[in-house]
Amino acid sequence: MLFDDMLKADESLFKNEHALDPEWVPKLLPFRDHHQRAIADCIKPVLLGRNGRNAFVSGAPGIGKTAAARWVLRDLEESDHGEKVELFYLNCWQKNTTFKVYVEMCAQFGYAFTQNKKSEELFDIIKEKCNKRGAVFIFDEVDKAEDTDFIYSLLNDIFNKSLVLITNEPDWINTMEDRVKSRLLPETISFKAYTPEETKQILKQRLEFAFVPDAVTPESFDICCTAAGKVSDVRVGLHLLRQSGLIAEDESSKKVLPTHVEKAILKLPAFSPKKPEALEEDQKLVLEVIKAKEHGKIGDLFDAYKAKGGEGQYKTFQRRIDSLSRSGYISVEKVTNREGNTTMIRATKKLTDY
Ligand SMILES: Nc1ncnc2c1ncn2[C@@H]1O[C@H](COP(=O)(O)OP(=O)(O)OP(=O)(O)O)[C@@H](O)[C@H]1O
Ligand SMILES: [Mg+2]
Repeated sequence: MLFDDMLKADESLFKNEHALDPEWVPKLLPFRDHHQRAIADCIKPVLLGRNGRNAFVSGAPGIGKTAAARWVLRDLEESDHGEKVELFYLNCWQKNTTFKVYVEMCAQFGYAFTQNKKSEELFDIIKEKCNKRGAVFIFDEVDKAEDTDFIYSLLNDIFNKSLVLITNEPDWINTMEDRVKSRLLPETISFKAYTPEETKQILKQRLEFAFVPDAVTPESFDICCTAAGKVSDVRVGLHLLRQSGLIAEDESSKKVLPTHVEKAILKLPAFSPKKPEALEEDQKLVLEVIKAKEHGKIGDLFDAYKAKGGEGQYKTFQRRIDSLSRSGYISVEKVTNREGNTTMIRATKKLTDY
Protein backbone atom coordinates (compact mmCIF):
# COMPACT_ATOMS: atom_id res chain seq x y z
CA MET A 1 0.00 0.00 0.00
CA LEU A 2 1.26 3.43 -0.95
CA PHE A 3 0.63 5.17 2.36
CA ASP A 4 1.46 2.21 4.55
CA ASP A 5 4.86 2.00 2.92
CA MET A 6 5.34 5.73 3.07
CA LEU A 7 4.29 6.22 6.65
CA LYS A 8 5.86 3.32 8.45
CA ALA A 9 5.88 4.15 12.17
CA ASP A 10 9.10 5.01 14.03
CA GLU A 11 11.06 5.56 10.87
CA SER A 12 11.28 9.29 10.90
CA LEU A 13 14.72 10.79 10.85
CA PHE A 14 13.29 13.80 12.66
CA LYS A 15 12.89 14.03 16.40
CA ASN A 16 11.30 17.46 16.22
CA GLU A 17 11.02 18.81 12.68
CA HIS A 18 9.37 21.94 14.04
CA ALA A 19 12.77 22.98 15.47
CA LEU A 20 13.86 23.78 11.89
CA ASP A 21 11.08 26.36 11.43
CA PRO A 22 12.55 29.81 10.95
CA GLU A 23 10.00 31.07 13.52
CA TRP A 24 11.15 28.67 16.21
CA VAL A 25 12.84 30.60 19.01
CA PRO A 26 15.65 28.53 20.52
CA LYS A 27 16.19 28.42 24.27
CA LEU A 28 19.70 29.73 23.81
CA LEU A 29 20.67 32.39 21.33
CA PRO A 30 24.44 32.30 21.10
CA PHE A 31 26.39 35.30 19.74
CA ARG A 32 23.52 37.71 20.27
CA ASP A 33 23.82 38.44 24.01
CA HIS A 34 25.01 41.93 23.40
CA HIS A 35 22.14 42.74 21.04
CA GLN A 36 19.55 41.19 23.33
CA ARG A 37 20.87 43.24 26.20
CA ALA A 38 20.78 46.41 24.11
CA ILE A 39 17.11 45.80 23.28
CA ALA A 40 16.33 44.96 26.92
CA ASP A 41 18.06 48.17 28.07
CA CYS A 42 15.71 50.23 25.90
CA ILE A 43 12.70 48.48 27.43
CA LYS A 44 13.84 48.56 31.06
CA PRO A 45 12.56 52.06 31.97
CA VAL A 46 9.03 51.06 30.92
CA LEU A 47 9.11 48.27 33.53
CA LEU A 48 9.98 50.90 36.11
CA GLY A 49 6.99 53.03 35.17
CA ARG A 50 8.94 55.50 33.06
CA ASN A 51 9.20 56.26 29.38
CA GLY A 52 11.50 53.84 27.59
CA ARG A 53 13.90 54.33 24.72
CA ASN A 54 13.31 53.25 21.15
CA ALA A 55 15.50 50.92 19.15
CA PHE A 56 16.21 50.68 15.45
CA VAL A 57 17.44 47.18 14.69
CA SER A 58 18.95 46.53 11.27
CA GLY A 59 20.98 43.88 9.49
CA ALA A 60 21.00 41.41 6.59
CA PRO A 61 18.43 38.58 6.27
CA GLY A 62 18.64 35.45 8.39
CA ILE A 63 21.04 36.66 11.08
CA GLY A 64 18.89 36.58 14.19
CA LYS A 65 17.17 39.98 14.40
CA THR A 66 13.68 38.54 14.77
CA ALA A 67 14.96 35.70 16.94
CA ALA A 68 16.74 38.13 19.29
CA ALA A 69 13.72 40.42 19.63
CA ARG A 70 11.33 37.53 20.21
CA TRP A 71 13.74 36.02 22.70
CA VAL A 72 13.76 39.25 24.73
CA LEU A 73 9.97 39.42 24.57
CA ARG A 74 9.58 35.83 25.71
CA ASP A 75 12.05 36.39 28.52
CA LEU A 76 10.08 39.42 29.65
CA GLU A 77 6.75 37.59 29.43
CA GLU A 78 8.10 34.77 31.56
CA SER A 79 9.68 37.12 34.12
CA ASP A 80 7.99 38.70 37.14
CA HIS A 81 7.77 41.93 35.15
CA GLY A 82 5.78 40.56 32.21
CA GLU A 83 2.50 41.48 33.86
CA LYS A 84 3.51 45.09 34.35
CA VAL A 85 3.31 46.17 30.72
CA GLU A 86 1.45 45.50 27.49
CA LEU A 87 3.63 43.59 25.02
CA PHE A 88 3.13 43.55 21.29
CA TYR A 89 4.98 41.85 18.46
CA LEU A 90 3.76 42.59 14.93
CA ASN A 91 5.15 41.82 11.52
CA CYS A 92 4.52 44.74 9.16
CA TRP A 93 4.81 42.48 6.14
CA GLN A 94 1.51 40.99 7.25
CA LYS A 95 0.07 44.03 9.03
CA ASN A 96 1.09 46.70 6.58
CA THR A 97 -1.32 49.56 7.29
CA THR A 98 -2.12 51.58 10.38
CA PHE A 99 -5.61 50.12 10.45
CA LYS A 100 -4.37 46.52 10.27
CA VAL A 101 -1.77 47.24 12.94
CA TYR A 102 -4.47 48.57 15.28
CA VAL A 103 -6.81 45.64 14.66
CA GLU A 104 -3.97 43.23 15.40
CA MET A 105 -3.00 45.07 18.59
CA CYS A 106 -6.59 44.90 19.80
CA ALA A 107 -6.61 41.18 19.01
CA GLN A 108 -3.39 40.72 20.97
CA PHE A 109 -4.86 42.17 24.14
CA GLY A 110 -8.13 40.35 23.62
CA TYR A 111 -10.42 43.14 22.46
CA ALA A 112 -12.70 41.57 19.89
CA PHE A 113 -15.16 44.31 18.97
CA THR A 114 -13.10 45.86 16.21
CA GLN A 115 -15.67 45.46 13.44
CA ASN A 116 -17.00 48.66 11.91
CA LYS A 117 -14.58 50.73 13.95
CA LYS A 118 -12.38 53.34 12.37
CA SER A 119 -8.64 53.64 12.96
CA GLU A 120 -9.12 56.55 15.39
CA GLU A 121 -11.63 54.62 17.46
CA LEU A 122 -9.34 51.61 17.65
CA PHE A 123 -6.43 53.83 18.62
CA ASP A 124 -8.47 55.32 21.49
CA ILE A 125 -8.96 51.81 22.87
CA ILE A 126 -5.25 51.00 22.48
CA LYS A 127 -4.28 54.30 24.07
CA GLU A 128 -6.45 53.73 27.11
CA LYS A 129 -5.13 50.21 27.57
CA CYS A 130 -1.45 51.12 27.12
CA ASN A 131 -1.53 54.25 29.23
CA LYS A 132 -2.68 52.25 32.24
CA ARG A 133 0.57 50.30 32.43
CA GLY A 134 3.04 51.21 29.72
CA ALA A 135 3.77 49.21 26.61
CA VAL A 136 6.47 47.60 24.48
CA PHE A 137 5.94 47.45 20.74
CA ILE A 138 8.07 45.39 18.39
CA PHE A 139 7.47 46.11 14.72
CA ASP A 140 9.32 43.59 12.61
CA GLU A 141 9.98 44.19 8.88
CA VAL A 142 8.83 47.73 9.56
CA ASP A 143 9.97 48.92 6.12
CA LYS A 144 7.08 46.92 4.62
CA ALA A 145 4.49 49.15 6.31
CA GLU A 146 2.71 51.28 3.75
CA ASP A 147 2.27 54.13 6.18
CA THR A 148 3.84 54.99 9.49
CA ASP A 149 0.97 56.89 11.10
CA PHE A 150 0.74 54.26 13.81
CA ILE A 151 4.34 54.93 14.81
CA TYR A 152 3.65 58.63 15.10
CA SER A 153 0.48 58.08 17.15
CA LEU A 154 2.13 55.63 19.54
CA LEU A 155 5.09 57.94 20.05
CA ASN A 156 2.84 60.90 20.62
CA ASP A 157 0.05 59.50 22.73
CA ILE A 158 1.46 56.63 24.79
CA PHE A 159 3.38 57.98 27.77
CA ASN A 160 5.55 55.08 28.86
CA LYS A 161 6.61 53.00 25.94
CA SER A 162 9.45 51.52 23.97
CA LEU A 163 9.27 50.92 20.23
CA VAL A 164 11.60 48.41 18.63
CA LEU A 165 11.70 48.71 14.83
CA ILE A 166 13.37 45.93 12.87
CA THR A 167 14.41 46.04 9.22
CA ASN A 168 16.93 44.77 6.67
CA GLU A 169 17.51 48.29 5.49
CA PRO A 170 19.70 50.57 7.54
CA ASP A 171 18.67 53.56 5.41
CA TRP A 172 14.97 53.07 5.95
CA ILE A 173 14.99 55.40 8.91
CA ASN A 174 15.90 58.29 6.61
CA THR A 175 12.71 57.79 4.65
CA MET A 176 10.61 58.61 7.69
CA GLU A 177 8.92 61.94 8.02
CA ASP A 178 10.75 64.44 10.19
CA ARG A 179 7.89 64.68 12.68
CA VAL A 180 8.21 60.92 13.30
CA LYS A 181 12.00 60.85 13.27
CA SER A 182 12.32 63.63 15.81
CA ARG A 183 10.03 61.81 18.23
CA LEU A 184 11.60 58.43 17.68
CA LEU A 185 15.29 59.25 18.18
CA PRO A 186 16.14 55.58 18.36
CA GLU A 187 19.19 53.77 19.54
CA THR A 188 20.72 51.98 16.55
CA ILE A 189 21.41 48.30 17.04
CA SER A 190 23.22 46.82 14.02
CA PHE A 191 23.43 43.08 13.55
CA LYS A 192 26.51 41.85 11.74
CA ALA A 193 26.50 38.62 9.75
CA TYR A 194 27.72 35.51 11.55
CA THR A 195 31.07 34.05 10.65
CA PRO A 196 30.95 30.61 8.98
CA GLU A 197 32.04 29.06 12.29
CA GLU A 198 29.26 30.82 14.21
CA THR A 199 26.73 29.71 11.59
CA LYS A 200 27.95 26.17 12.04
CA GLN A 201 27.54 26.25 15.80
CA ILE A 202 24.01 27.63 15.50
CA LEU A 203 23.05 24.94 13.00
CA LYS A 204 24.62 22.26 15.19
CA GLN A 205 22.35 23.28 18.05
CA ARG A 206 19.29 23.05 15.80
CA LEU A 207 20.44 19.76 14.33
CA GLU A 208 20.48 18.21 17.77
CA PHE A 209 16.96 19.41 18.52
CA ALA A 210 15.52 18.44 15.19
CA PHE A 211 17.00 15.08 14.24
CA VAL A 212 17.38 11.74 15.96
CA PRO A 213 21.03 11.17 16.95
CA ASP A 214 23.39 10.45 14.05
CA ALA A 215 20.64 10.84 11.44
CA VAL A 216 22.70 13.43 9.56
CA THR A 217 26.21 12.34 8.62
CA PRO A 218 29.02 14.80 9.47
CA GLU A 219 29.75 15.25 5.73
CA SER A 220 26.11 16.11 5.02
CA PHE A 221 26.03 18.56 7.89
CA ASP A 222 29.23 20.21 6.65
CA ILE A 223 27.74 20.76 3.20
CA CYS A 224 24.69 22.47 4.73
CA CYS A 225 26.95 24.67 6.88
CA THR A 226 29.17 25.63 3.96
CA ALA A 227 26.16 26.63 1.88
CA ALA A 228 24.64 28.68 4.72
CA GLY A 229 28.03 30.21 5.52
CA LYS A 230 28.53 31.34 1.94
CA VAL A 231 25.37 33.41 1.95
CA SER A 232 25.69 34.24 5.67
CA ASP A 233 22.09 33.23 6.24
CA VAL A 234 21.15 30.76 8.96
CA ARG A 235 17.74 30.35 7.38
CA VAL A 236 19.34 28.77 4.30
CA GLY A 237 21.06 26.20 6.52
CA LEU A 238 17.83 25.36 8.35
CA HIS A 239 15.98 25.01 5.07
CA LEU A 240 18.65 22.71 3.66
CA LEU A 241 18.69 20.52 6.75
CA ARG A 242 14.94 20.08 6.63
CA GLN A 243 14.75 19.48 2.87
CA SER A 244 17.64 17.00 2.96
CA GLY A 245 15.90 15.15 5.79
CA LEU A 246 12.68 14.97 3.82
CA ILE A 247 14.46 13.79 0.69
CA ALA A 248 16.27 11.11 2.72
CA GLU A 249 12.95 9.97 4.18
CA ASP A 250 11.36 9.88 0.75
CA GLU A 251 14.15 7.57 -0.33
CA SER A 252 13.70 5.49 2.84
CA SER A 253 17.30 6.15 3.76
CA LYS A 254 18.30 5.60 7.37
CA LYS A 255 20.62 8.59 7.22
CA VAL A 256 20.81 11.97 5.56
CA LEU A 257 23.65 11.52 3.07
CA PRO A 258 25.57 14.11 1.02
CA THR A 259 23.56 13.16 -2.08
CA HIS A 260 20.37 14.20 -0.27
CA VAL A 261 21.85 17.57 0.61
CA GLU A 262 23.03 18.07 -2.95
CA LYS A 263 19.53 17.39 -4.21
CA ALA A 264 18.16 19.88 -1.69
CA ILE A 265 20.69 22.50 -2.86
CA LEU A 266 19.57 22.05 -6.45
CA LYS A 267 16.01 22.78 -5.41
CA LEU A 268 16.96 25.99 -3.63
CA PRO A 269 15.65 29.17 -5.18
CA ALA A 270 18.14 31.81 -6.26
CA PHE A 271 17.61 33.72 -3.06
CA SER A 272 17.21 33.04 0.59
CA PRO A 273 14.01 30.97 0.92
CA LYS A 274 12.54 33.61 3.11
CA LYS A 275 9.33 34.80 1.59
CA PRO A 276 7.68 33.24 -1.42
CA GLU A 277 7.25 36.56 -3.15
CA ALA A 278 6.10 35.83 -6.66
CA LEU A 279 7.63 38.26 -9.08
CA GLU A 280 5.40 40.33 -11.26
CA GLU A 281 6.06 40.35 -15.00
CA ASP A 282 7.71 43.78 -15.08
CA GLN A 283 10.00 42.81 -12.23
CA LYS A 284 10.95 39.63 -14.03
CA LEU A 285 12.20 41.64 -16.99
CA VAL A 286 14.26 43.91 -14.72
CA LEU A 287 15.80 40.84 -13.10
CA GLU A 288 16.51 39.20 -16.47
CA VAL A 289 18.37 42.29 -17.65
CA ILE A 290 20.47 42.37 -14.49
CA LYS A 291 21.22 38.66 -14.63
CA ALA A 292 22.29 38.91 -18.27
CA LYS A 293 24.89 41.52 -17.34
CA GLU A 294 25.59 40.07 -13.86
CA HIS A 295 26.31 43.57 -12.57
CA GLY A 296 26.30 47.16 -13.70
CA LYS A 297 25.44 50.77 -13.01
CA ILE A 298 21.79 51.44 -12.49
CA GLY A 299 21.67 53.92 -15.41
CA ASP A 300 23.19 51.42 -17.86
CA LEU A 301 20.83 48.72 -16.69
CA PHE A 302 17.89 51.04 -17.18
CA ASP A 303 19.02 51.64 -20.80
CA ALA A 304 19.30 47.89 -21.37
CA TYR A 305 15.86 47.40 -19.84
CA LYS A 306 14.38 50.04 -22.16
CA ALA A 307 16.09 48.43 -25.15
CA LYS A 308 14.36 45.16 -24.29
CA GLY A 309 10.98 46.87 -24.38
CA GLY A 310 10.74 47.62 -20.66
CA GLU A 311 8.10 50.16 -19.75
CA GLY A 312 7.91 52.96 -17.22
CA GLN A 313 10.07 55.86 -16.15
CA TYR A 314 13.41 55.73 -14.36
CA LYS A 315 11.67 56.25 -11.00
CA THR A 316 9.52 53.15 -11.52
CA PHE A 317 12.65 51.22 -12.49
CA GLN A 318 14.32 52.35 -9.27
CA ARG A 319 11.34 51.17 -7.24
CA ARG A 320 11.55 47.74 -8.88
CA ILE A 321 15.25 47.61 -8.14
CA ASP A 322 14.50 48.40 -4.48
CA SER A 323 11.88 45.70 -4.32
CA LEU A 324 14.15 43.08 -5.94
CA SER A 325 16.86 44.01 -3.53
CA ARG A 326 14.57 43.65 -0.53
CA SER A 327 13.61 40.19 -1.71
CA GLY A 328 17.25 39.18 -2.00
CA TYR A 329 17.39 38.72 -5.78
CA ILE A 330 19.97 41.43 -6.24
CA SER A 331 22.30 43.53 -4.15
CA VAL A 332 22.53 47.27 -4.40
CA GLU A 333 25.58 49.29 -3.48
CA LYS A 334 26.01 53.04 -3.56
CA VAL A 335 29.47 54.02 -4.75
CA THR A 336 31.24 57.33 -5.07
CA ASN A 337 33.91 57.75 -7.70
CA ARG A 338 35.42 60.57 -9.74
CA GLU A 339 32.29 60.84 -11.85
CA GLY A 340 30.11 61.30 -8.78
CA ASN A 341 27.65 58.99 -7.04
CA THR A 342 26.21 55.97 -8.68
CA THR A 343 24.40 52.82 -7.70
CA MET A 344 25.88 49.47 -8.61
CA ILE A 345 23.56 46.51 -8.98
CA ARG A 346 24.61 42.90 -8.79
CA ALA A 347 22.58 39.74 -9.30
CA THR A 348 22.58 37.48 -6.24
CA LYS A 349 24.34 34.23 -6.95
CA LYS A 350 22.52 30.96 -6.71
CA LEU A 351 23.90 28.64 -4.10
CA THR A 352 24.41 26.18 -6.90
CA ASP A 353 26.76 28.67 -8.60
CA TYR A 354 29.37 28.29 -5.90
N1 LIG B 1 22.24 33.15 17.43
C1 LIG B 1 21.33 32.28 17.01
N2 LIG B 1 21.12 31.14 17.68
C2 LIG B 1 20.21 30.25 17.28
N3 LIG B 1 19.42 30.40 16.21
C3 LIG B 1 19.58 31.52 15.50
C4 LIG B 1 20.53 32.52 15.85
N4 LIG B 1 20.48 33.51 14.94
C5 LIG B 1 19.54 33.16 14.05
N5 LIG B 1 19.00 31.97 14.37
C6 LIG B 1 17.96 31.27 13.65
O1 LIG B 1 18.10 31.57 12.27
C7 LIG B 1 16.84 31.78 11.66
C8 LIG B 1 16.79 33.14 11.02
O2 LIG B 1 16.89 34.13 12.02
P1 LIG B 1 15.88 35.36 12.08
O3 LIG B 1 14.52 34.92 11.65
O4 LIG B 1 15.98 35.97 13.43
O5 LIG B 1 16.53 36.28 10.96
P2 LIG B 1 16.33 37.84 10.70
O6 LIG B 1 17.63 38.50 11.00
O7 LIG B 1 15.12 38.32 11.41
O8 LIG B 1 16.14 37.83 9.13
P3 LIG B 1 15.15 38.69 8.20
O9 LIG B 1 15.75 40.06 8.12
O10 LIG B 1 15.21 37.99 6.90
O11 LIG B 1 13.79 38.69 8.82
C9 LIG B 1 15.80 31.60 12.76
O12 LIG B 1 15.30 30.31 12.72
C10 LIG B 1 16.60 31.79 14.03
O13 LIG B 1 16.04 31.08 15.10
MG1 LIG C 1 13.21 38.70 10.68
